[in-house]
Amino acid sequence: LRRGALDSDLAGRHVVVSAGGTREAIDPVRFIGNRSSGLQGYALAATAVARGASVTLVSANVALPDPAGAKVVRVGSARELREAVLAGRAGADVVVMAAAVADFRPDAAAASKIKKSGAAPGPISLTENPDILLELGRERAHAGQVIVGFAAETDNVLEHGRAKLARKGCDLLVVNQVGGGRAFGTADNQAVVLGADGTATEIAHGPKEDLADRVWDLVGERLAS
Ligand code: CTP
Ligand code: CA
Repeated sequence: LRRGALDSDLAGRHVVVSAGGTREAIDPVRFIGNRSSGLQGYALAATAVARGASVTLVSANVALPDPAGAKVVRVGSARELREAVLAGRAGADVVVMAAAVADFRPDAAAASKIKKSGAAPGPISLTENPDILLELGRERAHAGQVIVGFAAETDNVLEHGRAKLARKGCDLLVVNQVGGGRAFGTADNQAVVLGADGTATEIAHGPKEDLADRVWDLVGERLAS
């Protein structure tokens, strides 16, 4: 049994977790997306349920079974994800943004499928999407709400992570080091959780459920204080 499943330390808490990756329409059949599987967000939702929380999982384009006991809200685009997260945050003790949100979307989605017509179509011009985590961190729904972000960085991980944490105004930022010259199979997938209070907690490479449990441990400390 996991530690959290024994002590139900999140009983009575409501948490919102976003997972997966947004899709930004180019036309009715095409989109700009990313490779997020949703596994980390789903692991966070499942472990929170196991620790007694009431969980809303905002899921963007994920091909995984619903975690038992969580309320799942399906979304497609970054703007839909924003609406669902903002709708859920008022009554939430914790919001975790594990989703990969597309930074940009096509200015306007074509109403009809773009067809081959001899010449290549023109370039797709892009608009920046709203930064949901920044909105959550900068304008708290209520005092004491804990906001958690995720980031993948390639180099100067701590420096970039610290800067991102400060810019977003969140309480915790889970930073994954990707690439950056580190050998595969060693420390490659280590995460460091940076706290707004100056703490840095290393999480050893391991299953996503274990990382999720460590994140809830850190969240729990902030909820208690
Ligand atoms: N995020 C968000 N809304 C966006 C972009 C990102 O809420 N429009 C959230 C992600 O869910 C993640 C965190 O912000 O929790 C960090 O995402 P990341 O892509 O690392 O940061 P960006 O601010 O987009 O900066 P950049 O991609 O330029 O590094
Ligand atoms: Ca980004």
